[in-house]
Amino acid sequence: MTTPTPGKGLEDVVVSTSEICFIDGDRGRLLYRGYDIHDLVAHSSFEETAYLLWYGSLPSRAELERTRRALATQRRLPPKILTLLRSLPRRANPMDVLRTVVSALGLYDIEGDDASREANLRRALRIQAQVPTIVAAWGRLRRGKAPVPPNPRLSLAANLLYMLSGRKPTPLAAKAMDTALILHADHELNASTFAARVTVATLSDMYSGVVSGIGALKGPLHGGANVGVIRMLLEIGEVDRAETWIKNALAQKKRIMGFGHRVYHTEDPRATHLRQLSEQLGREAGELKWYEMSRIVERVVNAEKGLNANVDFYSASTYYSMGIDPDLYTPIFVVSRVSGWTAHILEQQGNNRLIRPRAEYVGPREATYVPLDRR
Ligand code: CMC
Repeated sequence: MTTPTPGKGLEDVVVSTSEICFIDGDRGRLLYRGYDIHDLVAHSSFEETAYLLWYGSLPSRAELERTRRALATQRRLPPKILTLLRSLPRRANPMDVLRTVVSALGLYDIEGDDASREANLRRALRIQAQVPTIVAAWGRLRRGKAPVPPNPRLSLAANLLYMLSGRKPTPLAAKAMDTALILHADHELNASTFAARVTVATLSDMYSGVVSGIGALKGPLHGGANVGVIRMLLEIGEVDRAETWIKNALAQKKRIMGFGHRVYHTEDPRATHLRQLSEQLGREAGELKWYEMSRIVERVVNAEKGLNANVDFYSASTYYSMGIDPDLYTPIFVVSRVSGWTAHILEQQGNNRLIRPRAEYVGPREATYVPLDRR
């Protein structure tokens, strides 16, 4: 017995229960484990948010301290992973590099194939600690610069910026990156999280799940959109060109990166914060034009198409003002989303059944085989 074919792209289909993330697309609400994203941005840190996603409740002071320390002391990469990074073609897409290197990281996992929940919790933390180091090391190696060793005294967000540039970030930049990481940490059954859950539902391992997530996030309809946004802003170039440029793009029926969402029918609550960060970071960098251009693009796309900015729109100008290479924006999305993917993997493993849907067959059924020499 099969159920009727759902809408294209599984729109609005509920495929599972989950206690991790709630989205109210009509009211623009986003909760992690019941906590409003606005409260987490105001009061939490990325480390605490990751703990919340993994364990289901906020940590005590001691638990948070233990988690912070573990995340800070496990940032270094196995030497063979650095050797692998050095051997990769410098022109490679950083998302392809990340996918390859996270996969390789699994080969050196100190707990081998122990698939117990405790081992997987420790593994989630290790992957979370090491992914920022991979992203930053690649950002430097491909430019012929030596990787900057992680600084365990810095938060995960501040250390990411430090490893990218070799300089300690300003307090505003460190806070902005921490906020961006909180905002990107989880988003229910988005394409990459679904991919991660499908993979581990076969009883495959956590690395395979995370690698599936990275592959799915890369696409421009998902996490790759933030790179598309900055490319668009750079192509527009000047604030006074923005309105005409975007109207022409819409007239040509172009898809504007950073707008629209399958679930939100109102403002994406993550965009509310990133809009502010974009302005603050632009001010700090003494270059507000990327923010101002973004405001114009947002106004026109909203007026002409009724589409709202999503998480990827203002993250682009925010990261640009921090001096981060544009093609590292999606890898930075990964740095954050590893927490959500691994929380979902743990949840899937805790109550698993193989995910194996059906397809409605619409092809021919009575084809008569014709031998090769008579075709
Ligand atoms: N620019 C122009 N038109 C759009 C856009 C856009 N960004 N988004 C949707 N539309 C139009 C689309 O052309 C279609 O129009 P019509 O019915 O006339 O053909 C209609 O809206 C419905 O589009 P859809 O692709 O069927 O909608 P969806 O729910 O499948 O798409 C989406 C959701 C996010 C893929 C889409 O809005 C999009 O492609 N946005 C740009 C890429 C982007 O910013 N992605 C990041 C998503 S949020 C963060 C994340 O998950 O990574």
